[in-house]
Amino acid sequence: MSTTILQDRFGRRIEYLRLSVTDRCDLRCTYCLPKDFKDFLEPDAWLTFDEVARVVAVFARLGVNKFRLTGGEPLTRRNLPGLAARLSALPGVKDLSLSTNATRLAKHAHDLKDAGIRRLNVSLDSLKPERFAGIVGRDCLDDVLAGLMAAKLEGFAPIKINMVVLKGTNDDEIDDIVAFCMEHGFVLRLIETMPLGSTGGKAEYLDLRPIRQRLQQRFGLLDGLVEGGGPARYLQTPDRRFSVGFITPISQHFCETCNRVRLSADGILYMCLGQNDSMNLRDVLRRGATDADLENVIREAIELKPLKHDFREQPTKIVRFMSQTGG
Ligand code: 5AD
Ligand code: SF4
Repeated sequence: MSTTILQDRFGRRIEYLRLSVTDRCDLRCTYCLPKDFKDFLEPDAWLTFDEVARVVAVFARLGVNKFRLTGGEPLTRRNLPGLAARLSALPGVKDLSLSTNATRLAKHAHDLKDAGIRRLNVSLDSLKPERFAGIVGRDCLDDVLAGLMAAKLEGFAPIKINMVVLKGTNDDEIDDIVAFCMEHGFVLRLIETMPLGSTGGKAEYLDLRPIRQRLQQRFGLLDGLVEGGGPARYLQTPDRRFSVGFITPISQHFCETCNRVRLSADGILYMCLGQNDSMNLRDVLRRGATDADLENVIREAIELKPLKHDFREQPTKIVRFMSQTGG
């Protein structure tokens, strides 16, 4: 019997798969997609739900127990709750979560909860309608807020708000978003822009370390931990009701604890957001591979996982947009 755990060359255990179900998105966040971007995959390139379920079942047998549905915007894919229900019923799938921009969340929150999704990450970069529209390319803050309130009512926990901090654009709004998250019981994560594609490369990067210090003092925050165990380093209020995490790939990278790989909508398994090492699982699937073949290919792929990204050293290396790899 082979061992069932997946471990890379550097001793990192891989226990988390992020699954992009589409590269399409109904928004055009400045740091993610160009305004006029049209070069999306054709839907027949996407893995079918049957294919996704097979891949997830094999990963789960290899000890991967956390899965996140992402995109693009995953709720633009038809019957996403149906896929979620299938995946959460598979043996070994302990934690299924979703990342969304929430434009369509109000409509789907109930079905997603029923489908076994417990944790949600929602992008929200501003609470000012005009500024929000300027960042995401559409006037839809009300839809996003309605989605968030529907999710809160459904009892998703935790709901995490992702705010990409853009110097000179929304960095004056951090305290307002902290207050909003405190009021609603949301976890906040502040994110440094990453040079992914032409957009990410041009985004207004801000080092979050001074922001962390300032928030720590202003709100009397303590070091803390939050369910999910990802790359964010958290601070919490002493009563632990509010947490804010800092995702700082540029100022303080966290590659040594990386536990994840990403599957793009067309079935390419990427070993790192910031490197090109990958394995085409779709070709393997469509050539009629058995589960044992798939398992072997996944193990081979994990051997390729690089030590770290080179966002600082080689900021123009990654031409894929975040929406193409899966955020
Ligand atoms: N840098 C940092 N974060 C990004 N996201 C998309 N593109 C970038 C980028 N270039 C974020 C989105 C979303 C998360 C999945 O990734 O805002 O919250
Ligand atoms: Fe869409 Fe998310 Fe990219 Fe914004 S960051 S354009 S919501 S995929």
